[in-house]
Amino acid sequence: VVYDNSNNASYKVAHEIAALIRQKEKDEMYCVLGLATGSSPIKVYEELIRLHKEKGLSFKNVVTFNLDEYYPMEKDNVQSYYDFMHEYLFNHIDIPKDHINIPSGDTHPDKILETCIAYENKIKKYGGLDFQLLGIGRTGHIGFNEPGSHYNSRTRLITLDHLTRTDAASSFLGLENVPKRAITMGIGTVKEAKRIVLLAWGENKAEIIKKTIEGEITSQVPATYLQLHKNTTFVLDEGAASLL
Ligand code: GLP
Repeated sequence: VVYDNSNNASYKVAHEIAALIRQKEKDEMYCVLGLATGSSPIKVYEELIRLHKEKGLSFKNVVTFNLDEYYPMEKDNVQSYYDFMHEYLFNHIDIPKDHINIPSGDTHPDKILETCIAYENKIKKYGGLDFQLLGIGRTGHIGFNEPGSHYNSRTRLITLDHLTRTDAASSFLGLENVPKRAITMGIGTVKEAKRIVLLAWGENKAEIIKKTIEGEITSQVPATYLQLHKNTTFVLDEGAASLL
């Protein structure tokens, strides 16, 4: 779906999420959301916060699982995704603290496998992801599933692509400060979500969006795996859609 601008697009996506939260509340069920970081979802989060503050949208029955976190990364570091999510969403809504799940960037190396398995099991315990929000990196990554990621990959420690680290360099004040690894949900984890919405804004994303939507399905562009998912929408602005 192509919108004339990212504000209108983000508004629509936020309202779809809000409707799902309200429906699940009526059904007395948890609403299990997979959430993303990066600049793309920020306006969606802003609208959800507005709906909470002005329209009584409650997040008490919402459980969230974030896609990824840099490794190693301390929670209180301003560059952590933990900090990002609290600043842009969690600090402004009534979600219970113990409903928030983000891969831990400060896990001891010996415990990584164990904590990744526990993350997967927790998602399963809640009945899987009802809705997964995604951005896309210029390598075609979703979460931090870089080129080469397997269709059935699960939550794990990965090595970041050089282009991904270059794109992150400005927020880390230099490439040398960008972590070389990250923990990410796998493609297998993401693809089990009942509904997926991928957001992309601006001409900077046009080339990778063209490959993702019109290209062959390949592990070299992990986002192409979404072509196989039955309930995925790519929500774009005119810039991101300009090569389609
Ligand atoms: C990072 C995140 C991705 C995100 C991507 C794009 O790599 N791990 O989840 O989709 O950045 O970020 P932006 O939305 O800022 O373009």
